[in-house]
Formats: sequence, C-alpha cells, structure tokens
Amino acid sequence: MIPQANKEPSTGHIQIDRLRVRFGRNSATIEAVSDVSMTVRPGEFISIIGPSGCGKSTLLNVVAGFVRPSEGKVTVDGKTTDKPGADRGMVFQQYSLFPWLTVRRNVEFGLKQQGMQRSQREQAARTLLGLAGLLAFENHYPEQLSGGMKQRVGIVRALATSPQVLLMDEPFGALDAQTRIVMQQILTNMWQRFRLSVLFITHDIDESIFLSDRVYVMTARPGCIKAEIPIPLPRPRTPDMASTPEYLALKHKLRNLISEESLKAMGGELKDGGLGGFSVEVGPGGITELV
Ligand SMILES: Nc1ncnc2c1ncn2[C@@H]1O[C@H](COP(=O)(O)OP(=O)(O)O)[C@@H](O)[C@H]1O
Ligand SMILES: [Mg+2]
Repeated sequence: MIPQANKEPSTGHIQIDRLRVRFGRNSATIEAVSDVSMTVRPGEFISIIGPSGCGKSTLLNVVAGFVRPSEGKVTVDGKTTDKPGADRGMVFQQYSLFPWLTVRRNVEFGLKQQGMQRSQREQAARTLLGLAGLLAFENHYPEQLSGGMKQRVGIVRALATSPQVLLMDEPFGALDAQTRIVMQQILTNMWQRFRLSVLFITHDIDESIFLSDRVYVMTARPGCIKAEIPIPLPRPRTPDMASTPEYLALKHKLRNLISEESLKAMGGELKDGGLGGFSVEVGPGGITELV
C-alpha cells in the first residue's frame, strides 16, 4: 500500500468561473465581486490578496456556500457550492470557538454532528490536538487560551471532519508578528500532512509569499483578478529566505500591484464619503498644525 504522505491528492479542486456577486436591489445595488475566474488544484495552497472591501470575504463565502453567486459558477470537486458542506472547512479571523465547550469538545463538535461515536471522536480530537501541540489544553475553555492558541484550535476544528479544502479568511490578522510566523509554520505542516487544498485570504504580502504556491491579486471593488503570481520558492520555506533576491523580487512585484489598488480603493472611499474636493494643507509645522 502506498503511504498516505506520498499519495498525490486527487480531491480539493476549486473552480470559480466568471463569478459576480451583487448585494442589495435596484438603485442600492453594490457589486462586490466582478467577473472572477480562478482555479485551485488538488493540494495547492493559494492566497488571495487585495485592498480592504474588494470582495475577498464575499468570494470565500461563495466557496463556503454562505453566499450565492449573482452570475457565474463555483464548484468544489465538480459540485456547486450552494450550501455549506463537510468537504469545506472554514477558519475566520475572529475566533469562532464555542465558549461553553472545552477545547476538545470544540474539536469534536463536527464529528458529533457526523454521528461519530463518543470514544472514537475523543480519540480523533486528541490525535489532532497533539499534532498542534494543544493536548495539554484539551480540557481548557477558549477564554483561558491566548489568541494564537484559539486560532490553532480553530484550525484543528476545521480539519477534524477531514475536509477536502480549507478556506481561511485572514485567520492570523489579529495576531502579533511573532505568533503569526509560528502559526504560518504550523499551518504549512498541517497542510502538507493532510494533503488538502487551501484558499487563504490575507492582507500581508510576506504571509502570502511564505505560504503559497500561487497568489491572486484582486483589484479594488468591484474586485476582479488583477494578476496571478506563481511563488516558485522551494519548500520547506524558512524565514531567512526573506532576504534572497528571488523573494525580494516577488515582494516588490506584489507590493507594486497592491499599492496601486489600495490607492484606488481609498480614492473611492473618500469620494463615496462626500469628501471630494476636500484638501488638507500642511504647513511647516507638519501634521501637528491640524491637531
Ligand atoms: N451581506 C452584504 N450586504 C451588502 N453588502 C455587502 C455584504 N457583504 C459585503 N458587502 C459589501 O461588499 C463589498 C466587499 O466586501 P468584502 O467581501 O467583505 O470585502 P473584503 O473582505 O475584501 O474586505 C464591501 O463594499 C461590503 O460592504
Ligand atoms: Mg474580508
């Protein structure tokens, strides 16, 4: 028998075709996502990066089955994502653990829903918690954990039901820089061990390079794909790669693409907020003159 780790994954194929999402009706319509097409192949780690409000969460929510497309089609392994399903695990930025359940019971939750027997699901949860270095905390409640630990439990919980894809919406956005780096390494380990596909949203250019096989850059709202950047850096990736010319060239390219869009997004916000024509003059005293 071929060991699991050597097997090429064959599931976890996300296909997004000409996706368009509008919210509201008639004159109050907002187009959040505009004509997005992208592919995540089985086992790939793909990031999406783009300015705030450009439709990243909306896009991910369509894949998760929480939001319906206005036009276009999204499938996972050929099945339209018209409702949430056990084939797709989700991790949000805000910690979404059940506060009244212990760490282990949080991880067991999805397994219980799937009808797994108590002793079996306890064992499965303990194995996964062990992999994430959390076994000693199995009987703690979420409020007793640090932010990084809560998010580790969130990942373990999403993995417990053996999904084919993991959908992550800025999962490390609220963590400090050091914790974030550790979390990125834990996530990479879990991804390689479980051989699943990951669709990961981030604001952070370094994070997208460190984690991904490819990065999609979105435009300002209504978001469409501005560029698709392959990240050909070898794995395992280490923090010292950040000073190599290859890494710096990727970072430079991504930064240029994103800053153009962020400026556009901010311009739009100022106009929408009725600040058109508002100008600020800063004299020799600098910004302090304004306060
Ligand atoms: N349920 C909703 N109803 C109305 N507008 C929404 C809804 N969800 C998101 N939007 C709007 O769609 C745009 C994209 O939002 P979102 O996908 O959250 O962006 P991002 O995650 O890139 O910051 C924003 O202008 C947001 O206000
Ligand atoms: Mg968002």
